[in-house]
Amino acid sequence: MAGTAPHEVKMPGRRARAARAEPPPDDAVPIAELRDEAAACRRCPLWRNATQTVFGEGPEDAEVIFVGEQPGDREDLAGKPFVGPAGRMLDATLEDADVDRRKVYVTNAVKHFKFEPRGKRRIHSKPNAGEVQACRWWLDKEIGRIGPRLAVALGATAAQSLLGKAIPVLKRRGEVIERDDGLRIFITIHPSLILRIREQEDKEAERERFLKDMRTVRELMGA
Ligand code: URA
Repeated sequence: MAGTAPHEVKMPGRRARAARAEPPPDDAVPIAELRDEAAACRRCPLWRNATQTVFGEGPEDAEVIFVGEQPGDREDLAGKPFVGPAGRMLDATLEDADVDRRKVYVTNAVKHFKFEPRGKRRIHSKPNAGEVQACRWWLDKEIGRIGPRLAVALGATAAQSLLGKAIPVLKRRGEVIERDDGLRIFITIHPSLILRIREQEDKEAERERFLKDMRTVRELMGA
């Protein structure tokens, strides 16, 4: 490498960086360390009312990262992403599409549960652009560490965080948008949309469309 001192070439990784007194790049920080750091995150006010930070989960070398909006009530209590009703819908659809959840990394654009108290219930409240932007710090670090080939944006908040701008998800679902850094973003809906549909026929039709999207993800994973 032109202009590189020989000792730097012989000392790869952390030792070389330590010798040069440089901070490690994001991709050198293991997810477990990022999770510990994020547990004390104060980058926006959402930590105040949430039970805990809900960080991403999955293999550190996953080819695909699924990004949701924010943890819900169940996730906030469990400390794990997508373990409530939307998670069950996601799991069932992934299984039908032959995508193994254990092989993908699952996370959220925002890592604290935002809600309005209503009696004993906690009602989901959409994170605002500032909260999404503040939490992008962690999503970027997760992506930097994992280096996925594909990111699946589950809904508008995930798409906004991954792309840095709002897009009309219903119009653009099924599209793959390539970012400047080369990461491909697959656009789809959030599975909670299916849960909110009352009419059974419409619900099934939307679930079929989501299954079709997950089958496309399966194909993109193999591509
Ligand atoms: N909805 C999300 O966006 N993420 C979760 O983890 C759960 C529900």
